[in-house]
Amino acid sequence: MSVLAFREIRAKDEAPVFDARFRAEFEALLRWRRDVRRFRRDPVPAELVERALDLACLAPSVGNSQPWRFVSVESEAARDALRANFRRANAAALALQDESRRALYARLKLAGLEEAPVQLAVFCDETTAQGHGLGQASMPETRRYSAVQAIQLLWLALRSEGVGLGWVSILEPEAVARDLAVPEGWRFVAHLCIGWPEAETAVPELERAGWQARTGAGRELVRR
Ligand SMILES: Cc1cc2nc3c(=O)[nH]c(=O)nc-3n(C[C@H](O)[C@H](O)[C@H](O)COP(=O)(O)O)c2cc1C
Repeated sequence: MSVLAFREIRAKDEAPVFDARFRAEFEALLRWRRDVRRFRRDPVPAELVERALDLACLAPSVGNSQPWRFVSVESEAARDALRANFRRANAAALALQDESRRALYARLKLAGLEEAPVQLAVFCDETTAQGHGLGQASMPETRRYSAVQAIQLLWLALRSEGVGLGWVSILEPEAVARDLAVPEGWRFVAHLCIGWPEAETAVPELERAGWQARTGAGRELVRR
């Protein structure tokens, strides 16, 4: 296990002006971000990943606590443990599916754990003193929300370089923490497979596979 170093990026003093072209490109970045499970095996330059991690650390966090913790999963032993974990969790998830959907579920590719050249497990440090508890008293889960913010920025930063990220949650969280021997108090949030995608698409893979398309769910603005 190796814990990646944190390098802070300071902005230049002058505030940027984001123009229409930037906004169009930003929208394209959002529209062309994908959850990727089919990776080419060629390596991703380490500096590119480091830079994306630097940018991810600009994420907002409750009380400025920055509770995200990244673990680079590199050894074959650690990767094997994750793959075995995924197989167990996925078999359990398959059994929970309605019978009418089980065959389709079994055909879905739900992780790139074999191919992805870079794999990062993300944890939330539930014990960090950074932030002095601000914002967490009534909602301690905001620490984990903060970790997810960093993941989202990492996702976009990588995509802006043409690198894909796939979020794997079909895992037994306690087993991940145990297998990666992380400190007590780190709670598992996500396992991220990272690499060059086999193909680019603006349509989510689950939609193309006939599992679930986007709908208007969540777009409604409830007014009170
Ligand atoms: C919290 C979270 C957990 C996810 N877990 C998995 C997973 O275990 N396996 C998988 O194939 N996709 C997983 N995804 C990816 C979603 O399936 C994907 O985001 C969704 O289908 C929409 O596709 P898109 O990200 O390409 O727009 C996860 C996404 C999120 C946000």
